[in-house]
Amino acid sequence: MTTTLGPLPTDRLRRWAARIGESIATPLVPSDYLDLIDPLRTTAKLRGRIVEIRPETRDAVTVVITPGRSWKGHIPGQYVRIGVDVDGVRLWRTYSLTSETTTRDISITVKAIDGGKVSNYLVRRATPGTVVQLEQATGDFTLNTGTEKALFVTAGSGITPVMGMLRNHLDQLDDVIVVHSSPTKSDAIFGGELRMLARARHGKIRLIERHTTIDGRLTPEELEELVPDYADRETWACGPGAFLDALEEHWDDASRLHTERFRTSVAVTGDGGAVTFARSGKTVEADGSQSLLDAGEEAGVIMPSGCRIGICHGCVVPLREGTVRDLRDGQITSAAPGDGVLIQTCISAASGPCDIEL
Ligand SMILES: Cc1cc2nc3c(=O)[nH]c(=O)nc-3n(C[C@H](O)[C@H](O)[C@H](O)COP(=O)(O)OP(=O)(O)OC[C@H]3O[C@@H](n4cnc5c(N)ncnc54)[C@H](O)[C@@H]3O)c2cc1C
Ligand code: FES
Repeated sequence: MTTTLGPLPTDRLRRWAARIGESIATPLVPSDYLDLIDPLRTTAKLRGRIVEIRPETRDAVTVVITPGRSWKGHIPGQYVRIGVDVDGVRLWRTYSLTSETTTRDISITVKAIDGGKVSNYLVRRATPGTVVQLEQATGDFTLNTGTEKALFVTAGSGITPVMGMLRNHLDQLDDVIVVHSSPTKSDAIFGGELRMLARARHGKIRLIERHTTIDGRLTPEELEELVPDYADRETWACGPGAFLDALEEHWDDASRLHTERFRTSVAVTGDGGAVTFARSGKTVEADGSQSLLDAGEEAGVIMPSGCRIGICHGCVVPLREGTVRDLRDGQITSAAPGDGVLIQTCISAASGPCDIEL
């Protein structure tokens, strides 16, 4: 449940009264009343309250959140799963933390993508006061201790985890090159802050900006020209999957290249088929490149989810019958009636008819 607390006490009272009215029809348990009064209390499920939404570019904002008292903090570069209610449906997505670790509030920076449910909600509709669901921070896209010579290669919203590292580890980094790609100069998220850092820390931080509308998409070969000593640097890269795949292929020493992906790279597509969501009573035709998670959501089925890229296991459900294919490597999983084999819907596509326990 996303609860929005308006700025005026009268509004708040009206909403509380409405909630209590609702409770006559739907009995509340004591914790529901406590949620109305103090949704961020230590014993409640971890939540946060949006306290500020700051524009970064024409389609990206920074959302500042006061987390509940059980928030355990984060390591720069990590991400948080956040649950928001969009048009009455709870949707979970993952966002890198961009805030300094010393502040009580945390921040994420979200870029609206075409047709994106949560990103557009956060960029265009969410307001300060909105209460969101949170999970503890996680992820291993973090700086190694002792790194002095670093290369960050980012594109679009891929700058977010790197900004988290730069804001927190500046004193540790003596020789940093940031290569950042965006469609234009004004589309560069944190462009102003990065340019200011490069000026203020001249000799320690070098910023190389690429604007794809003029320069085209960056290739590993061009990166090598821009940063001739790239192989001597510990590198963190975040951007489109195809670009990260190309970097991974190009890098001789894979242990010195760290990548963070915001979506699954679809490597193999299958046959597709009719997907039945047994408990919801819905059947949809899904093609072999569409995840079962996307197919279910499109059909209006309430699908559990999290990172949507196969990391968190927040989307695991039983496959009652049928065959699915892992979009990352083509691996096939089959279930005979009654098997209830567990599958991750975010990285599985139908390979023939299948029946999901949802
Ligand atoms: C570890 C991790 C960290 C992330 N950090 C950030 C971050 O800091 N800032 C940020 O803006 N996003 C970040 N993301 C991406 C974010 O979790 C969502 O995937 C993104 O906001 C889209 O969600 P949506 O609900 O708007 O789109 P959906 O409604 O889920 O999807 C709408 C359409 O867009 C496509 N799509 C989904 N995700 C993307 C994407 N990332 N790029 C392009 N097309 C997409 C879908 O295939 C679908 O066709 C991160 C993801 C991961 C896994
Ligand atoms: S949603 Fe995270 S593994 Fe599927």
